[in-house]
Amino acid sequence: MAPESRIVYVDNDPLVLAHARALLISSAEGACHYIEGDLRDPDKILSEAAPDLDFAEPVALILLGVLHHIPDTAQAHEIVRRLVTALAPGSYIAINHSTSAIHGAAMEEAVAHWNKVGTPSMTLRTPQQITRFFDGLELLPPGVVSCSRWRPDLTAAGRLPAEVDEFCGVARKR
Ligand SMILES: C[S@@+](CC[C@H](N)C(=O)[O-])C[C@H]1O[C@@H](n2cnc3c(N)ncnc32)[C@H](O)[C@@H]1O
Repeated sequence: MAPESRIVYVDNDPLVLAHARALLISSAEGACHYIEGDLRDPDKILSEAAPDLDFAEPVALILLGVLHHIPDTAQAHEIVRRLVTALAPGSYIAINHSTSAIHGAAMEEAVAHWNKVGTPSMTLRTPQQITRFFDGLELLPPGVVSCSRWRPDLTAAGRLPAEVDEFCGVARKR
């Protein structure tokens, strides 16, 4: 849809790197690159992305399903702050993050099971903690809500979709 787009993906899983090598392509007008990097080292990500992204222009920073893999809440907030600081005014930041605000103990039990058998570990956060990722930014309506309620289509029965334990928001840097 926008072949001139310049995109840099980041992941720290070698398997994702293998798929990226096989799948990522770009048109001649744009760029589609991949950094094998860890979100806990945002400076490395910023410096390796710099040849492909013009940080003097607005950029979309998309952190989907990844901040809940950073166990330390203060560190997670600091990572977002560091990345946002590097962005030009007019940039957008989109985040989604797991919570137990909707299903409570059932979600906490599911994540406890995941943390016993799977990697990387998951840390659930409250909607308030998720909202704090957008501190200092202009949070767009409807704010931080369950992903199914972010500008939703009504169901066939004319109702709002059920809320899920994944909250999200989109903000603009002034
Ligand atoms: C739940 S998946 C989400 C993938 C994709 N963003 C999406 O929304 O479909 C989480 C991804 O984050 C990656 N990840 C987890 N911890 C990371 C870290 N510290 N640095 C970079 N990537 C990480 C995992 O390898 C995995 O590919």
